[in-house]
Amino acid sequence: MQTPETLQPPYDLMGEDMQRAPQRLWHQLASECPVHFAPQLHGFVLSSWADCAALLRDPELSTGLMTAALDMRPPEEAAAIEWLRKTVRLWMGHTVPEDHTRLRRLLQGYFTPKTVRTLEPVATAIADELLDAAEQAGRFELVDDFAYPLPARVIAHMLGVPTQDHEAIQRWSADITKVFTSVAFEDILTAQRSMQEMIDYMVPIVEEHRGNPQEDVISAFIEAEVEHRVSVEEILSNCVLLLFAGHETTANLIANGTVALFEHPEQLARLRAEPELMANAIEEMLRWEGPATLTMRINGGEPRVIAGVEIPAHAMIVAGLGCANMDPREFEDPLRFDVAREKPKTLTFGMGGFYCLGAALARMEGRVAFSRMLERFPELAPVGAPEWSLTSPLNRQLQRYELRVR
Ligand code: HEM
Repeated sequence: MQTPETLQPPYDLMGEDMQRAPQRLWHQLASECPVHFAPQLHGFVLSSWADCAALLRDPELSTGLMTAALDMRPPEEAAAIEWLRKTVRLWMGHTVPEDHTRLRRLLQGYFTPKTVRTLEPVATAIADELLDAAEQAGRFELVDDFAYPLPARVIAHMLGVPTQDHEAIQRWSADITKVFTSVAFEDILTAQRSMQEMIDYMVPIVEEHRGNPQEDVISAFIEAEVEHRVSVEEILSNCVLLLFAGHETTANLIANGTVALFEHPEQLARLRAEPELMANAIEEMLRWEGPATLTMRINGGEPRVIAGVEIPAHAMIVAGLGCANMDPREFEDPLRFDVAREKPKTLTFGMGGFYCLGAALARMEGRVAFSRMLERFPELAPVGAPEWSLTSPLNRQLQRYELRVR
């Protein structure tokens, strides 16, 4: 019988290789190690596309994912983050199924491909404004000067939050994301503090909308509140969710995608020559190094067997989305980055009932970001190597990437 100890893979999931070229490690896991135990994540990680997809589609495993991870911390830590646990439990994907359906229905109209298309001019204007500054300076730092502010301003616009506050929103969001990407308790405490600050910031904005409804998400929330379809606590908590989910991940798509293009110059040249491949190229970037490489579920009250391994009741099960996207059973030659790959069906946005609400928005922002960057700067080139940091096993994050525009 295999135990967590015997299930630890023979690779260092937080080592040099992970930092330099995670695709090889993800591919190795997908090919050779369908389930492993990651002590830092306190969970069993699935690596194959089929097992991850089955996990995400399983309606029995739908609730309480993040809060369960937070609840699993030692009692004194769990007590110190009680406010965070309570607030996260109001997020649409972390509440009970009826509340999830109610909250998702309330919002989904704002995130359809059709609605998102109407935002394309807004995203283009923001991208151009950021690239004007880069053009003037002759260079820019991709992460801080472009990848983060673009989606941060777009989601602020959609919600009805002043776009000039995007720097504070970015700072809070970076901290809150650590709830997903870090296992260090210090980081979880920082996430709690930042979430409290973000909610304090949102209170007067929501109040302002009460007397002055606009065509934005907060106004839709308030209309629903009047009809008793949502509480003010849910509004505030889900605004935080949308603000941070709405840009952290998309920023990583722009950041990781840019590195992928420069590391595959022939693919960059092809995309420049055939801009009609852009939508396809975005899908390949999402597969190659998606901004979400892991997501989690909590097992139900019965043990289950996955790929021959018995997973105990109530254990944490991690879908290794990065690994699944490198599964040779699903993708031909998965270690080839190919902007013309035929419709890669990535798991990067999840699957099933919790499929990413913002997928169409992220895709549109990705298309705008790369189209504008490549069109405006034919000579765009990196100045040095990309600087990455490891945030958790199987996940790295771009910190800095200096680019020159001529
Ligand atoms: C490239 C960018 C993005 C990626 C890779 C991404 C990834 C994901 C994934 C994997 C999930 C499912 C998690 C699970 O099943 O455990 C998810 C859910 C979600 N995403 Fe995204 N996301 C992105 C952009 C966005 C944007 C722009 C928004 C804007 C609001 C957003 C909002 C959400 C929300 C609200 C959920 C929860 C949906 C639910 O519980 O029904 N995401 N995302």
